[in-house]
Amino acid sequence: MSKKITKICCIGAGYVGGPTMAVIAQKCPDIQVTVVDLNQARIDAWNDPDTEKIPVYEPGLDKVVAEARGRNLFFSTEVDKAIDEAEMIFISVNTPTKTYGSGKGMAADLKYIELCARQIARVSTTDKIVVEKSTLPVRTAEAVKNILQNTGNGVNYQILSNPEFLAEGTAVEDLHAPDRVLIGGDTTPEGQDAVQSLVDIYSRWVPRERVLTTNLWSSELSKLTANAFLAQRVSSINSLSELCERTGADVSEVARSIGTDSRIGPKFLKSSVGFGGSCFQKDILNLVYIARSYGLREVADYWEQVIIMNDHQKRRFANNIVKTLYNTVSGKKIAFLGWAFKKDTNDTRESAAIYVADDLLNEQAGITVYDPKVPASQVYSDLDYLETRSSEKNKQYLTVVEDPYEACKDAHAIAVLTEWDEFKDYDWKKIYDNMKKPAFVFDGRSLLDQAKLSEIGFKVYVIGKEAVK
Ligand code: UDX
Ligand code: UDX
Repeated sequence: MSKKITKICCIGAGYVGGPTMAVIAQKCPDIQVTVVDLNQARIDAWNDPDTEKIPVYEPGLDKVVAEARGRNLFFSTEVDKAIDEAEMIFISVNTPTKTYGSGKGMAADLKYIELCARQIARVSTTDKIVVEKSTLPVRTAEAVKNILQNTGNGVNYQILSNPEFLAEGTAVEDLHAPDRVLIGGDTTPEGQDAVQSLVDIYSRWVPRERVLTTNLWSSELSKLTANAFLAQRVSSINSLSELCERTGADVSEVARSIGTDSRIGPKFLKSSVGFGGSCFQKDILNLVYIARSYGLREVADYWEQVIIMNDHQKRRFANNIVKTLYNTVSGKKIAFLGWAFKKDTNDTRESAAIYVADDLLNEQAGITVYDPKVPASQVYSDLDYLETRSSEKNKQYLTVVEDPYEACKDAHAIAVLTEWDEFKDYDWKKIYDNMKKPAFVFDGRSLLDQAKLSEIGFKVYVIGKEAVK
């Protein structure tokens, strides 16, 4: 018989843990959900009486938190207590790409996962179902299981894999009405009971046929595969954007034409300055690393090409700005509209903007950034993280402003890096009047109305469209 869950703990109050637990708490008022994190400042922000100040910006999330927080949703740094009380523990800590040692730059760093497993093993006095929410390399559950089962204090553990498919910016929507929920577990009767306990939770609001169950390894691998396939679509269309620019084909028209083939489908065919986000690159590198570690060279090379193409697309965008501005941007002002890796999020991890800025700073450009949701401190920390130049130099050459018109004032060129809706509605005539001439726009998101801007007088370059003559 599957166990009725009354108390859930989630370790990691980030972009995944926070919204996911908020929605579970909203949909299951009888289950107490406690989200814990080592980071006191982050927990304090989740507890801010003003729900607009919670640390993750997601449309609609403030309302979900307002509804459930204090009722059955709690945010705390008392990790041990929450673990001990819960029957089900979600692990939702970050698994960054390793920056040291073997597998550096490729493999997932699992140290936080291992720390969580050890902490659960140390604290638990009653049986637990441990759910991997973080994206993990296939067979990680085995390591977690080993750590948990070798404590010898008589506590039984079941490990489930329940990867998250929400996309940032639409997290609440995706959680409320997911295409599917995936739950992997052991094929033993005890494993299947644990699976059922989690199925029962999601079934409160997700139609049962959308809750898929598999073995642990299929579930772990499916998450990496889903992200690899999605990223591959973006790299595929981006590879064609370059060909379109040379041939006079228009990549949006090509995308529309192929997307109407139901076998291909219309989504994820938008050419861009390159994909970003915390998952795509990390998960593909992971897949590549795993394939290599099994000696599968062709498989590894195949998927690695998706990353190579993406790096090329980011670099190509920066190079085109330099080339178009008469082969030098030194001392010129370039205005960046957008820094987040996509619209409707304040997340900047792996954002294309970071790499484009880095390339332009190498060319001694001056950059002014405006993003509606990203604070200056985040922009600087993203650049400093690359360690291309000193933090002082980054501050000297790059400025972050809170007004888009100020960002564009006296600029030689504008680069659109994120597809924020508000950019479309600006007074572009006013922007034009305040810029250096000729005034260039490099639209890395095919967001703006090219015809309208050209009419005002801008020289407009759009990814995947032939350059204006
Ligand atoms: C992360 C991964 O990026 C993603 O691949 C995975 O699927 C889920 O976890 P995200 O929620 O976006 O996604 O990460 P992040 O916003 O960095 O949040 C992780 C949180 O875990 C941080 O707040 C961090 O302080 C916390 N943490 C980390 C702990 O509480 N304990 C630890 O040992 C490590
Ligand atoms: C992704 C997956 O979609 C999600 O299922 C998984 O759980 C985590 O990783 P996310 O990174 O939040 O979600 O955003 P997503 O909407 O997938 O976009 C990723 C990147 O691809 C963004 O930089 C986006 O701008 C870019 N993109 C997306 C394109 O350039 N073109 C497209 O057509 C779609």
